[in-house]
Amino acid sequence: MVTVPKRKIVIRAMELEDVDDVMLVERSAYEYPWTRGIFEDCLRVGYICRVLENGGEVSGHLVISAAAGEAHLLNICVGPNTQGLGLGRRMLSHALMAARVAAAHRMILEVRPSNWRALRLYQSADFEVVGRRRGYYPAHEGREDALVMARDLHRRSNAKTNS
Ligand SMILES: CC(C)(COP(=O)(O)OP(=O)(O)OC[C@H]1O[C@@H](n2cnc3c(N)ncnc32)[C@H](O)[C@@H]1OP(=O)(O)O)[C@@H](O)C(=O)NCCC(=O)NCCS
Repeated sequence: MVTVPKRKIVIRAMELEDVDDVMLVERSAYEYPWTRGIFEDCLRVGYICRVLENGGEVSGHLVISAAAGEAHLLNICVGPNTQGLGLGRRMLSHALMAARVAAAHRMILEVRPSNWRALRLYQSADFEVVGRRRGYYPAHEGREDALVMARDLHRRSNAKTNS
C-alpha cells in the first residue's frame, strides 16, 4: 500500500517578505484582488495578518482589524489549488481565536451575495446577515452589494468551525 504523506499545515504571522507569495495567492483567487500596497499598509498599521503554510508553501492568508471590541475580517483567502480541503475553515477558526485574544466581542465581515462558497462557510460558523452595503464591490456590470455578516465571539458555537 502506498501512503501519501500528509502536508504539515501552519498558520503564522505574515511578514513583509511573505507579500510576494501572498500576492500570488490573492491574484489567483480573486477577480478584484487587493494590491500589494494594501497588504503592506495592513502590516504597517499592525492589523492581524496571517499566512497559512501547507507543506511549507504559502497557500492562504487572512487580515483582521480589531478596535473598540470589534474585529473586522477584511480578507480570508485560500489559493484555488487547495480550496475545498478545509483550509478556509481552519483559517476562520484561527481568525475567531485571534480576535478574542485582541479583546474583540464581535466579528463582522462583508461578502458578495454571489460568493456562495464563502457565504456557506460563514453561515456554518454561525455568522448572520445583519445588513447590506449598496454598491460596495466592483463588478462586471456596475457594482455589487455587500452582505454584512456578524458573529458574537463570546457565545460558544456548536458550529463546525471549532471556536
Ligand atoms: C471562501 C474560501 C476562503 C473557503 O475556503 P476553502 O478552503 O475552500 O473552504 P473549506 O474547504 O474550509 O470549506 C469550508 C466550507 O465552505 C463551503 N465550501 C467550500 N468549498 C465549497 C464547494 N466547492 N462547494 C460547496 N461549498 C463549499 C462549505 O460550507 C464548506 O464546509 P463543508 O466542507 O464542511 O461543507 C475560499 O473558497 C476562497 O479563498 N475563495 C476566494 C476568496 C474569497 O472569496 N474569500 C472570501 C471573501 S468574503
